[in-house]
Amino acid sequence: MDGREKQERKSRLLFAFAKDFVTAPPISMALLYILHSLLKLAFLCSFWPTVIPLSLNYPAVFNFGDSNSDTGGLVAGKAFPMTQFNGETYFHEPSGRFCDGRLIIDFLMEAMELPYMNPYLESVGSPSFQTGCNFATGGSTILPANAASTNPFSFNLQLSQFFRFKNRALTLLSKDKELQNYLPAEDDFNKALYIFDIGQNDLDRVFYFPVSDEQVVAFISKLMSELNYGMKRLYDAGARNFWVHNTGPLGCLPRIIATFGKKPSNLDEHGCVASHNRAATVFNKKLHDMCLQFLAHSPEANITYVDIFSIKLNLISNYSLYGKQAINHFFSFNVLLQSIRICFQDSSIH
Ligand SMILES: *[C@@H]1O[C@H](CO)[C@@H](O)[C@H](O)[C@H]1NC(C)=O
Ligand SMILES: *[C@@H]1O[C@H](CO)[C@@H](O)[C@H](O)[C@H]1NC(C)=O
Repeated sequence: MDGREKQERKSRLLFAFAKDFVTAPPISMALLYILHSLLKLAFLCSFWPTVIPLSLNYPAVFNFGDSNSDTGGLVAGKAFPMTQFNGETYFHEPSGRFCDGRLIIDFLMEAMELPYMNPYLESVGSPSFQTGCNFATGGSTILPANAASTNPFSFNLQLSQFFRFKNRALTLLSKDKELQNYLPAEDDFNKALYIFDIGQNDLDRVFYFPVSDEQVVAFISKLMSELNYGMKRLYDAGARNFWVHNTGPLGCLPRIIATFGKKPSNLDEHGCVASHNRAATVFNKKLHDMCLQFLAHSPEANITYVDIFSIKLNLISNYSLYGKQAINHFFSFNVLLQSIRICFQDSSIH
């Protein structure tokens, strides 16, 4: 691969990460800001001479994931009982989310001026899928579910659901043009944004069995080939715009700390379970490598890689800096989007 080709490949991997959540980020270092309030992107680049505008302008969004981006899939698909804190403070009615307020995906949809995503599995209330469809369900994994899995809707099944959705939509549209008010147009499938936020449950489960570090690393590699295979299937079907969230600091989840953090020596400087956060870090490194490899084999793809781990770890470890408001917004992207920075971080790509 020559230098120019390499640069082009890099420029197709956009990085998103947040620095400050409350104060405006310093201009000197900033490369690209999402100006949430204006819903416009301005690009300022200090290392890259070319100015490449990026707009969050997609006719549709297809999302694959777990509870981090489930907008009602598990509740619809398994009649999962969710009673407490289910939409009380923001939606003022049960929202099907594993969060009282909005999820990151909801804030992203707002930023794109698109309606909140309907779950594929929702059968009641004639939901519109004109601007996309959400295949995420709480508890889902990258690895295929088996009889013992609590959630059958693993990544491979979510993909099958997507292909079924697409085929069915195109068939129906060819018969009845009026359905375009409810379904994405054929072209929209190619222009859509494909979002992935999955892997946390795979990592979580591995620690309930005795495993060596090597086994964890090998397991993560298996997750990456599964994810890569799925993205490739979408690319082969015409998907071009990918948006990948890396995994958050698993070791900071209260449930994990309660289970694995009883011994103080298991905790790191943030008070989180060190082994789990190390695994999350390895996962993210491999995810990043996988994205680069994917780009190398997919000449027309773009990937935006979002460093959710750093964003959440900052919120958790610096909670006192952000005060009550930030705690309320813990799962909200609002605060993050105001200062998130997307950059062509060539320094971290080898
Ligand atoms: C996406 O990739 C194509 C080439 O494959 C490139 O022309 C285009 O500028 C890229 N878009 C963004 C937003 O980087
Ligand atoms: C916490 O905030 C400080 C000061 O802004 C910053 O240097 C540090 O990186 C933050 N911690 C994390 C884990 O992001």
